[in-house]
Amino acid sequence: MRKKIVAGNWKMNMTPSQAVELCETLKPLVAGSEADVVFCVPAIDIVPVVEAVKGTNIEVGGENLYFEDKGAYTGEISADMLLDAGCKYVIIGHSERRDYFKETDAIVNKKVKKAIEKGLTPIMCCGESLEQREQGITLDWIRMQIKIGLQGVDAADVAKMVIAYEPIWAIGTGVTATTEQAQEVCGAIRECIAEIYCRETADAVRIQYGGSVNAGNAAELFSQPDIDGGLVGGASLKADFGVIANA
Ligand code: PGA
Repeated sequence: MRKKIVAGNWKMNMTPSQAVELCETLKPLVAGSEADVVFCVPAIDIVPVVEAVKGTNIEVGGENLYFEDKGAYTGEISADMLLDAGCKYVIIGHSERRDYFKETDAIVNKKVKKAIEKGLTPIMCCGESLEQREQGITLDWIRMQIKIGLQGVDAADVAKMVIAYEPIWAIGTGVTATTEQAQEVCGAIRECIAEIYCRETADAVRIQYGGSVNAGNAAELFSQPDIDGGLVGGASLKADFGVIANA
């Protein structure tokens, strides 16, 4: 039985002091969750958020990392920095990073491997654009992202990681994929993992849905057989996240 995982993706929101305030608001609201609860926060918020959630059921994650260990990479953040600051998770390959910062599947793959090597759990994102959905190539596209993103990653490591299916057209738009659409793609991702690895690995990997998840639609989405929780943007910044974490 896979344990559900509900992660907030704060994106570029919350100053350090606002972040601590939000933690205080959300802590009691997610305390009863049966899922793994993760706050993925801006790099500068990691230290105060780790401090603020100490002793609770909340784990902390980064929103990105760089695939080199250290050195002259101005502005980047390493896996060791995330770990030392107290992170357990890291989002990799979010569509906003692919789009605005030109991250390719090959870069995503390097980042996934670095996270695993260092002991962070990657939340590897994939998702199609509206144009790709209309062209009927959604599953081909997702399978390609999964196959390249996981090149050279061992089955045992895949089994422990998280994959987030986030249709780009549903992110921040208020348009959620239908339960059927979300389940179809999450199921296809699991089949793809079974093909590359084996059934056991496919049954172990946790697959989230993301894209306008809110307090009203979370329970139905998370009840699908291949949806093991959600990656939540906008709604993770307010009390609604408590409802979602308990859905
Ligand atoms: P959203 O973002 O919930 O605001 O649509 C989801 C995400 O980008 O992870």
